[in-house]
Amino acid sequence: MALEKHDPVTGQTTTGHEWNGIEELDTPIPRVALFFLVTTALFALGYWILMPAWPLGVTYTRGLLGFDQREVVTRQVETAAAERAGWADRVMALDYAGVQADPELMRIVGETGHALFGDNCAVCHGTDGRGSRGFPDLTAGAWLWGGEPETIHETIRVGINSGHDETRMSQMMAFGRDGVLEREQVRAVAAYVRSLSQPEALAGDARIEEGRQIFAENCASCHGEDATGMVETGAPNLTDDVWIYGGDAQSVYASIHGGRQGHMPHWEGRLKPLDLKILALYVHGLGGGR
Ligand code: HEC
Ligand code: HEC
Repeated sequence: MALEKHDPVTGQTTTGHEWNGIEELDTPIPRVALFFLVTTALFALGYWILMPAWPLGVTYTRGLLGFDQREVVTRQVETAAAERAGWADRVMALDYAGVQADPELMRIVGETGHALFGDNCAVCHGTDGRGSRGFPDLTAGAWLWGGEPETIHETIRVGINSGHDETRMSQMMAFGRDGVLEREQVRAVAAYVRSLSQPEALAGDARIEEGRQIFAENCASCHGEDATGMVETGAPNLTDDVWIYGGDAQSVYASIHGGRQGHMPHWEGRLKPLDLKILALYVHGLGGGR
């Protein structure tokens, strides 16, 4: 055993260990460390007694305070369900106008509808509902099947050209490809169609008169005499500048030559009746209620 040795500089005793001439001072553990050690040990002891702590096989020490996080969560879930049931029942019980007249319900419809739309519809219609080529812009107020909450609800419920028994059905035939119209006739009617929404760009185009004739004979049955569309056939309004597939010469020609048939999935059976109603109200709002 080494004798008690003192460090010549500080006068402190050393532990006697030496590494290459460097010796370790024998400093005691600071009091503050001991203090914290004791306090935390006491705290742990208190905690074990008061709170649920030690597992005992099938059960555990429950603690004197009887605190149970599971009960807290169960209570929170129950409160949330009760709150939801409150507004959900009201949304289901009221008609559309009734829900729309209630600002508090409409606030919830807006939030829930936005989440539902993001989860189910945004892949095709975009997160903002503005759509993209082939997927209609739901904010434009230019409705294929009608823009009332009831008709929007029906579209979402059964889909368009979907697998649902009651699906909405629509088809724009391939007038060019199927040989109903000659290439020049397709050009002429395309020019006429474009002149309806872009009169300046097409002013003086000699084919427009011929196109008007062709339209009356071949297209008016679905798009209407004045080409403003028909909700009965799901045929779009061709006189506004809102296009599903594009309003430039090439796109309009392609629509008439090759036909179009959009597919909108049906949501009955995949979404709850409450969610369908919320989405109908939400989409109606996207189109500015038009
Ligand atoms: C797989 C792509 C796809 C998804 C997902 C989708 N839609 Fe559609 N939706 C379409 C297409 C395509 C059309 C247009 C069909 C046509 O051209 O006839 C359409 C049309 C509509 C229309 C009719 C618009 C009008 O002018 O009448 C509504 C309303 C609509 N969608 C709402 C929704 C809602 C709400 C959801 C989510 C629950 C949704 N869509 C999900 C592709 C989709
Ligand atoms: C049987 C009914 C029907 C007839 C007849 C018909 N269309 Fe259509 N048309 C539709 C439908 C439905 C759509 C929408 C298709 C879709 O969105 O999937 C459409 C879409 C179009 C589009 C694309 C519009 C856009 O927003 O991009 C153009 C252009 C068009 N039709 C022009 C014509 C012309 C021109 C004729 C006559 C030569 C004609 N249609 C005859 C039903 C018809």
